[in-house]
Amino acid sequence: MSNKKLIVGNWKMNLTVHESSLYLHKLGGALKAHRSVEVVLAPSMLAVQSMSLQVERKLFKLASQNLFWKDEGAYTGEVSAHMLRGLVSYAIIGHSERRHIFGEHDKDVRNKVQAAVRHGITPILCVGETAHERAAKETTGVLHDQIVGGLANLTADEVAELVIAYEPVWAIGTGDNALPADVERAAHIIRRQVEHLYGRETAAAVRVLYGGSVSSQNASSYLAITAIDGLLVGGASLKVKEFEAIVEAAFAAGKR
Ligand code: 13P
Repeated sequence: MSNKKLIVGNWKMNLTVHESSLYLHKLGGALKAHRSVEVVLAPSMLAVQSMSLQVERKLFKLASQNLFWKDEGAYTGEVSAHMLRGLVSYAIIGHSERRHIFGEHDKDVRNKVQAAVRHGITPILCVGETAHERAAKETTGVLHDQIVGGLANLTADEVAELVIAYEPVWAIGTGDNALPADVERAAHIIRRQVEHLYGRETAAAVRVLYGGSVSSQNASSYLAITAIDGLLVGGASLKVKEFEAIVEAAFAAGKR
């Protein structure tokens, strides 16, 4: 857990290179005062390089939305952690859209997490249950499997540095955001699992985010949860004003 809130905007497959640059310019103008919040933007892979030249690193950091674990070779269409090194600080790994649309399994996720760590990129490991799993009361088991599967072979020191995002699949892009009490419960399950595997200190150090239909209206209710270190924002991060309001909420939460 950290006092500095982490707000990540996942743009998914939105915004052209030109639109990304414009967005960054506008947000940069608005954000000057918020040094105590860590703001991270995850643009399309195409915009990563140009944004890395434009980005004012004191204000924002960049994340990739994915990466591939081999450094180079015959892997058509992929971009490696080795290629992203120096351009991004974070990488979103195992997002539910990667798992469900592109068929990624825990083994792929684990390889990607390890590649990111190997190249000095902080993984944002996404975990979360589907509506079906939730209805069957399988949330704890799903989180357990995704954490054990995603983190295997890392040292406690490496895990302490990383970020785990609780993103219930049913809450993503639906407007059906999770109740803060459920998010708090999930954050405790995640930390307990990390503690079981890597010890108490690591569980306290790892940063846990919530993602799923976060908006400027509901952001504060999650930021008030002690076990939650920040937010992973999808749709609402595409609008500069809305994202700025979420960063503002994080700034206010940090001061309390
Ligand atoms: P929404 O905020 O659009 O629900 O998306 C959440 C998400 O998937 C962030 O990674």
